[in-house]
Amino acid sequence: MRAVDIIMAKRDGRELSRQEIEFMISGYVSGDIPEYQVSSWLMAVFFRGMSFRETADLTDLMLRSGSVMNLAGVQGPFVDKHSTGGVGDKVSLVLAPMVAACGVRVPMMSGRALGHTGGTLDKLESIPGYTTRLDEKSFRNYIAADGFAMTGQTDAIVPADKKLYSLRDVTATVESVPLITASILSKKVAEGAQALVFDVKSGPGAFMKTVDDAERLANSLVRTGQAMGKRIVGVITDMTEPLGNMVGNFLEVEETIDCLKGGGPADLMDVTYRLGAWMLVAGGKAADVAEGESLCRKAIASGAAWDLFVANVRRQGGDAERMESLKGNYRSAHRRELRAPAAGFIQGIDAFKIGLAGVYLGVGRNKTTDAVHPDVGFRFERKKGYSVAAGDLVAEVWGKDAASLDSAWPLIAEALSVGPGKPADTPLVIKEITAL
Ligand code: URA
Repeated sequence: MRAVDIIMAKRDGRELSRQEIEFMISGYVSGDIPEYQVSSWLMAVFFRGMSFRETADLTDLMLRSGSVMNLAGVQGPFVDKHSTGGVGDKVSLVLAPMVAACGVRVPMMSGRALGHTGGTLDKLESIPGYTTRLDEKSFRNYIAADGFAMTGQTDAIVPADKKLYSLRDVTATVESVPLITASILSKKVAEGAQALVFDVKSGPGAFMKTVDDAERLANSLVRTGQAMGKRIVGVITDMTEPLGNMVGNFLEVEETIDCLKGGGPADLMDVTYRLGAWMLVAGGKAADVAEGESLCRKAIASGAAWDLFVANVRRQGGDAERMESLKGNYRSAHRRELRAPAAGFIQGIDAFKIGLAGVYLGVGRNKTTDAVHPDVGFRFERKKGYSVAAGDLVAEVWGKDAASLDSAWPLIAEALSVGPGKPADTPLVIKEITAL
């Protein structure tokens, strides 16, 4: 076999055999096939797509490039949730303890902020002392003790994705449904969950900008995951505005505390309850989403979810007392206010622009090696649908320094739109696709 023939076949729109895909993946991981050939192949896949069978083979072969988490000895059911990435999306931090309190075990392997989207690991690491670098034994033990644990991807898990993802990032081949499916699913299957709930974000603040694209990705994740023997739910949710009222790292931990103590904002809690309900259904702990939602609400109202969150913070090295005492105080000295430019209704706050501005402020990063800051970001006083007078406070913004606020400000000002007339409400949960 020769890489050039496989590139040519895909360039001309031919379906590749499992052996041909294996040749490309194993050749790239071993270093036998150079990056320029893999780049061409990725671009051919980007334009020509892959059949469902090719996507399933690619996912399986990527999974087999590394090892799989061993959760033997821990009582299941194991269910995880994965979001395709958004702005203000701290759902995982609330969801994992909430669902664990209902008897579902959550082996959560998360990522870091990249581009305009935030990262669960960066948010957790803003808690003083908290570590997200768990070895397999600790991961297993912590799940057994508290029902969930939060870790980053280890080098042993899907090494093919590490190489491929970095290459896709610099060759403009990220936004491809089969490549995203294989990248996400191979990692999720490797963490040992029996069922997976995908939160596929749709809108300006998401990778998938339209509902149609989000639906194509959700269908691909559900179908491919099912072919790999998993129970899968894909929930398409709106990412037009940031989720909740806080965007940042510790700022999002603060909002997580509010949510777990029963005072979370409605949009964030609606999405969290819905995804949590599906996790309980997928894990066999609820007969349907209505029962699942009711169990999730009880886990918050009783304080059981909060207790598990605190137990996990301590277990992963965090200082839970300091976390609580920092709430409301852990803010950079460089602060600016966003105020309504005119009277009217807030028509929306553009999540994409806020996410991009967050990179300047120090919330996120452009390159994987960039540092992020715990004490910067946004607190929204008002979002879509609120009536405002000219000069009303819309958001407080904190940056790592004065220059970062200057650089971010044009985007922040553009993100806010105020106009006459109350905008129509749009649903947050757009569509659900199940394979249970
Ligand atoms: N997240 C991933 O892990 N992989 C992708 O390809 C896109 C988003």
